[in-house]
Amino acid sequence: MAKKQILTIPDPLLRKVSEPVTSVNTEVKNLLDDMLETMYAAPGIGLAAVQVGVLKRIIVIDLSKDGEKKDPLFIINPQITYKSDELISYEEGCLSIPNQFAEVKRPSSCKVNYLDYDGKKREINADGLLATCIQHEVDHLNGVLFIDHLSKLKKDLILKKTKKKIKEIDRVIV
Ligand code: NI
Repeated sequence: MAKKQILTIPDPLLRKVSEPVTSVNTEVKNLLDDMLETMYAAPGIGLAAVQVGVLKRIIVIDLSKDGEKKDPLFIINPQITYKSDELISYEEGCLSIPNQFAEVKRPSSCKVNYLDYDGKKREINADGLLATCIQHEVDHLNGVLFIDHLSKLKKDLILKKTKKKIKEIDRVIV
């Protein structure tokens, strides 16, 4: 396994639509392993392949808490087949938008079809944090970021702050 670099905004790749996986082969499994290692090291609870520069419809998620047994979920070619009318609000962040958080309202539960690590067809009914996390990651596969769900005012504020941060980091490097 190897840790990969996580792309951050305004990298244009983050706005691209990812392609479906045609075969869950060794290359895909290696990518899943690398993504998991990258996500754990970040640390984060979800990561989409596009965030490490690969435009494939692949997601890893692990909602286990610190000190608990790891519980990775490998999701390939996810299709959300149901979203509840009821909404739930979480404060979301994103490894591609460092240090910025905002409340986002999303359907509180959803049903998802996908392929697992072994290429087997699976279906899960997700609710609460898992439902939010899956929807956040599926958004990534469609070039959508959590800030797109915010008002223009809030989104612009986050973009401005992120730009400033990047500038500050540059200054230190130089
Ligand atoms: Ni994200």
